[in-house]
Amino acid sequence: MLVIGLTGGIGSGKSTVAELFANHGIAITDTDVIAHRLTAAGQNALDEIASIFGRDILQEDGTLNRPFLRQKVFADAESRKKLENILHPHIHEVVNIELTAETKTPYRIVVVPLLVETSAYDNVVNRVLVVDCPEHQQIQRVLARGALKEVEIRAIMATQCNREQRLNRADDVIINDAEHQKLAQQVSELHKKYLTLA
Ligand SMILES: Nc1ncnc2c1ncn2[C@@H]1O[C@H](COP(=O)(O)OP(=O)(O)OP(=O)(O)O)[C@@H](O)[C@H]1O
Ligand SMILES: [Mg+2]
Repeated sequence: MLVIGLTGGIGSGKSTVAELFANHGIAITDTDVIAHRLTAAGQNALDEIASIFGRDILQEDGTLNRPFLRQKVFADAESRKKLENILHPHIHEVVNIELTAETKTPYRIVVVPLLVETSAYDNVVNRVLVVDCPEHQQIQRVLARGALKEVEIRAIMATQCNREQRLNRADDVIINDAEHQKLAQQVSELHKKYLTLA
């Protein structure tokens, strides 16, 4: 089964592009979605996180205080590493299960924000698809979502590799610097290409 690794910086348009591939009937595995699921109330990963970061990262109802945890880890590389060490093996396990599940999809897309930064998916994906856009657009788009301030967005971007490093790893590139319609067209063309490769 052909597996395409879809990556890009924060706010570059990964989820939007994945949705467009899903519209073509392609099975999507999104590691962000998995991470979110793994840290829902009552999940093992959440217990591990609470035992390392303290119970005060939980809210009264037992759910994760995501903004609080985010603040903790983006202030400090060591904490970030600890969080990744808890989450990544769990995420990897779920990805492996999803990728081996029976399906009619002609190929698969797996969305991995830190694909280039880590080597964990080198043996999982056959090709790397990078969504690229200028940094000021990443910032604008994430700001528009309203959850993060500009300093926080810049701090996250500083932990990610730069555009050039990411583009160096790309087998295919989608440029997301214009309106949505331009994206759909690029996805359609890549979809045709992937069907011939699958
Ligand atoms: N071409 C575009 N024009 C305008 N807005 C866009 C465009 N592409 C994406 N967006 C918007 O920008 C935001 C970021 O896009 P998206 O969520 O797809 O990025 P992402 O790479 O998945 O981000 P994250 O790293 O946070 O998961 C979303 O609100 C999305 O609707
Ligand atoms: Mg996303």
